[in-house]
Amino acid sequence: MNPALSKTRLILVFWNRKSFEAKRFTDLTCMPDLTVKQQIDQLTDELNYHSHIYYQENRTEISDYEFDMKLKELEALEKEHPDLKREDSPSSRVGGTITKEFETIHHKYRMLSLGNTYSKEELEDFDKRVAKGLGTDDYEYLCELKFDGLAMSFTYEQGVLKQAVTRGDGVKGDNITPNAKTIRTLPLKLNTKTPYPENFEVRGEVFMPLPVFKALNEQREAQGEAQLANPRNTASGTMKMQDSSVVAVRKLDCHLYALYGKNQGVESHEEALKSMEQWGFNVSPTYRKCKNIAEVITYIEEWEMKRLELPLETDGIVIKVNRIDQQDELGFTAKNPRWAISYKYKAENAATELLDITYQVGRTGAITPVAELSPVLLAGTTVKRASLHNANEIERLGLHEGDTVFVEKGGEIIPKVTGVNLPARKPDAPKITYITHCPECGTELVRHENEAVHYCPNDETCPPQVLGRIEHFISRNAMAIETLGPRTIKGFLQKGLIEDFSGLYSLTFEQLNGLVFEDEDKQTGEIKKRSVKEKTALNILESIEKSKEVPFKTVLFALGIRFVGKTVAEKLADHFQRIESLAEASFETIVEVHEIGERIAESVVEYFSIEKNRALVQRLQDSGLQFYQEAKQEATGTSLSGLSIVVSGIFESVSRDELKSLILENGGKVASSLSNKTDYLVAGDNMGPAKKDKAEKLGIKMLSEQEFLNLINS
Ligand code: IVH
Repeated sequence: MNPALSKTRLILVFWNRKSFEAKRFTDLTCMPDLTVKQQIDQLTDELNYHSHIYYQENRTEISDYEFDMKLKELEALEKEHPDLKREDSPSSRVGGTITKEFETIHHKYRMLSLGNTYSKEELEDFDKRVAKGLGTDDYEYLCELKFDGLAMSFTYEQGVLKQAVTRGDGVKGDNITPNAKTIRTLPLKLNTKTPYPENFEVRGEVFMPLPVFKALNEQREAQGEAQLANPRNTASGTMKMQDSSVVAVRKLDCHLYALYGKNQGVESHEEALKSMEQWGFNVSPTYRKCKNIAEVITYIEEWEMKRLELPLETDGIVIKVNRIDQQDELGFTAKNPRWAISYKYKAENAATELLDITYQVGRTGAITPVAELSPVLLAGTTVKRASLHNANEIERLGLHEGDTVFVEKGGEIIPKVTGVNLPARKPDAPKITYITHCPECGTELVRHENEAVHYCPNDETCPPQVLGRIEHFISRNAMAIETLGPRTIKGFLQKGLIEDFSGLYSLTFEQLNGLVFEDEDKQTGEIKKRSVKEKTALNILESIEKSKEVPFKTVLFALGIRFVGKTVAEKLADHFQRIESLAEASFETIVEVHEIGERIAESVVEYFSIEKNRALVQRLQDSGLQFYQEAKQEATGTSLSGLSIVVSGIFESVSRDELKSLILENGGKVASSLSNKTDYLVAGDNMGPAKKDKAEKLGIKMLSEQEFLNLINS
C-alpha cells in the first residue's frame, strides 16, 4: 500500500499464498448519511480488507494513493472522535503511541525454551526418549525452521488482537501491543470465514527481514551512523522502542509457530499451523511432517544450505511431536517440553589472536572499534578484521590484550567476535580500555546521553570527517560526481584547492590541468606521483557542472546532515520545498512532517543554527545548485507550458527562487544551464557576460524581469 513497504512486499510474495473471501465495499462518498461511527467502521473494514489482500494474497484492488487517502480520512475522523477508534484500526500500523514504561504481563502459559542438540546422535537419543515416554513407535514429527528473532505471544479475543507480550523471563514479559501492531503481516482482526476459537493465543518469532536490515545499515552508513550488529538484536531493540512510529518504519515481520487456548479444534501441530495459515497468520511454509527421525535428518540436511537463501536468519530446526495428545502425555521438564527439541546448525567459527583494536572515524565523527585479528580461514574466506561496534560490545566481551577470541560467521556477512577463550588468556594481559581521544586528530571524544557510540566533536578539521563529508557529497547516491574519487579529493585538500565540498564549484581548468598528486602506498610506504591530464581535468569540470542539475532532495541528502538519509531528505524537500523554509523551520514544525522524528528534527535545527553551515549552503546556492523544488501539486497556470527557462542574475521585485516558483506554477520547466533546448533566459542584474554571449549564440530569447512577468500575466 505504502510504497515505502514495497521491499518487504517482495519477500511476502514468497511467504504467503492464501485464499480469502472477497468482500465489496461501498464508496463512502456515495453515502453521506452515515454516522461518524459507521464511517469509521466502514473505513476500518475496508482498509483492513485491502491490507489483507495485499499482504496475504499479494494482490491489490485499489492504488496506493487511494489507500493513503482513505487512511488519512480515517485518521482525521479518529482524531476528532478518539472514542470511536477501533482496536483493529489500520492507523495503528503507522504507530504514534509513545509508551514510557511497558506494563508487565504474566503469561497465561509459560513461555518455555527448547533443549538444544548439535548432532544426529543427540537427536536419535531424543527420539528414543520420545518412544520410551509414549511407549509406542506410532508417532510423527513436525519439523520447522528455527527463526532467529524474538519470541512473542499474541492474544486474540473474538478475532481481535488484544495484547502482544515479549517472552521476558518466560513467566512474565512486557506488553508492547502498540509496537506489535505495526507488523503488517500480523492481523489486527481476523478476516476469514474459517471458524476460529473465541479466545486464543498464538506465538511466534518477530524478526527483521534481511533486506530491511541491509537497507537500514546502508541508510545508517549514508547518515554517518554506526552499523547495527545483526538483525536479531535490531529486531529485539526495535520492539522495545518507546515510539511505535519509529517501530513502524523498521518493517519487522513475524512467523507464527504455536497455538494455545481451549477448544482450538485441532488434534495435531500440523493442523494448528494450517488453521493459523487459514486465519491469515504468517506461517512460514517451510514446515514438514516427518514419519520418523530419519526423515527429520533428511529435512535438516536439506535446509542446511537452502535456509541461507531465505530473507531471514535461521539458526537451526525445531522438531516437535505432531499429535497434541502425545505432546500432553510427554509433558515438560522444569525448563523444556519433552515433546520438542531444537537442532542447531553449527555456525562456522574459529579461534584466533586479537592483535589490536583500531578505531575508525566516520564522516559524522562516529567511532567504530575494529578487532584486528591474526588471519584465520572461516567459511571459505580469510578473516582479518571484525567490527566490535562500540564500547559496550568490548565491555560485554571483556576483551584483554592478546586474547584468543572466537570469531563466527553465521548467516551474516560480517564476521563477529563471539567470545574469549579465557583459559588461554595470559595472566598479566591488561584489560582493553576504550580510547578517550580521537585517533585521527587527538580531540577528546564525547558520548551523547543514551547513545552507545562515541564521537569526535572536531568536525571542522578532523581529517576523516572532512574527507568523509566530501566523499559522501560526491557519491553516486548524492551529487554523483563520479569523475572524482577519495584519492583525488585527498589531493585537492592537501594542495589547499578546496576546504569543503563547496570548493569543488570554484575549481578551474588551470588549477586542475597538470596538477600533481603524491600518494603513499600503504603497504610499502613508497610515495607515488600522478598528474591530472587535460582530458581528465575537463571531465572533472564537466561532471561538477552537471551536478548542478541534481534535484533539491538529493542536494539536501548530499549535505550530510546527521540522520538525514535519502528518504528523510526527500520527505523534508517535499514538505519545505526550499532550503530557506527548512533552514528557518522550528523543531516543532519539522517534527510535524510525516515520519520525521525528534532526533532528525533536532539534528536539522542544530545544523542550520551553525553559522558556518549556513555559509556553506549559501556558497552552494551561489554556485547554482538546486535548493528548491517544485510544489507537488499541479501547476495552476499554463502560460509557460512546455517551455524550458533559465534564470540568471538578481531581480528587483522577486527573489530568484520566487521567480523559479512562478515558472513552475505556470507550467514551465526550470533548467540550470543554457542549451539548445532552452526557450528563454530570464536575465536579471549582474548576469555574467558569458551567459549573455552563450544565449545569443544559441539564439535563446532573453527576457527582462518585467517582460517575464508580463508573459505570465498575459
Ligand atoms: S517452539 C515450548 N518453534 O526458539 C517451546 N520456537 O529455544 C516453544 N524459535 O523461545 C517454542 N523458531 O524464540 C518454536 N519454529 C519455532 C521456533 C522457535 C524460533 C525460538 C523461540 C523460542 C526459542 C526456544
